[in-house]
Amino acid sequence: MNRNHFIFAWAGNKRNEATQIVPFIKLNDIDTFIEPYCGSSAISVYLSNQGLNLNYILNDNDPQLIELYNIMKDDNEFINLEKQINNIIGDKDFNEAKYYELTAKDDLISYILARTIYYRRIGLFNSSKIRKHKTKVKYIGCPIHKFMQSQNTEMHNKNAIDIIKENIDNDKCVIYLDPPYLKTRNKDYYKNIDNYESIYTYLRTLKETKCKIYMSILMNEDLIKSLPNFTVVNQYDKVYCWGNKRVQTHVLLELNYCKIYKDNDILECINQDIQSLSLN
Ligand SMILES: C[S@@+](CC[C@H](N)C(=O)[O-])C[C@H]1O[C@@H](n2cnc3c(N)ncnc32)[C@H](O)[C@@H]1O
Repeated sequence: MNRNHFIFAWAGNKRNEATQIVPFIKLNDIDTFIEPYCGSSAISVYLSNQGLNLNYILNDNDPQLIELYNIMKDDNEFINLEKQINNIIGDKDFNEAKYYELTAKDDLISYILARTIYYRRIGLFNSSKIRKHKTKVKYIGCPIHKFMQSQNTEMHNKNAIDIIKENIDNDKCVIYLDPPYLKTRNKDYYKNIDNYESIYTYLRTLKETKCKIYMSILMNEDLIKSLPNFTVVNQYDKVYCWGNKRVQTHVLLELNYCKIYKDNDILECINQDIQSLSLN
């Protein structure tokens, strides 16, 4: 288990799966890495820690998450935010009633508080965590802050499909998709619940793109079959230890983007076609 890189836990983050994902992504000849469903941006932080100085385009349809990222870019604002959270949880009069009063508000403090102190579900008071947090939170210098300070990042608060469309013709970028899993999506965490199927409907329409597109999904034969323009490039098991211990199989898909443009890609594509013909 790697140490949390973000300022609170982010459901479905890919921090502990980066080594099952990154080696299967073709990163040569690119200058931009895009996460249309960024959440805590675990894969971008991992790439940056590996020394990849790229343009990172991070998007999420959660407005407060993007507000938080924008604050991280400004040291003074981020220090101030850290102080505000510590003033609240370090206050000797902070209690359950105060917690519910603050988390009922629709502001960034409420958003962070509900995700920092909770029991089982976001927004449920947790007295033992309060005692733990009397030791104060430390945001400055944490991995996500360092990442935001050191890399060229661009933040957006749009629907993921719009971000894909805007970059589809950029042959210098990789788009990594990590949409909420259809089966296990966390309704407490993800604020804007839209039609989760729409991304797959859109991806099925893609034939020739200049950018490279990768996507993480839970192993689901039917979904994979319904995306014939994608290839499985890795499959791995993940053990979940909280709650009922269970194992789930995850899959990384790659769009068959290479029907185009670069000589090498065309060659690679022909090879893939030959391979698939001989398999059939
Ligand atoms: C599985 S999480 C991504 C986790 C991320 N890879 C990480 O390492 O933290 C999915 C994210 O997609 C966001 N989301 C859900 N629907 C979206 C949409 N239509 N457009 C953009 N973001 C969306 C959620 O807010 C959530 O942060």
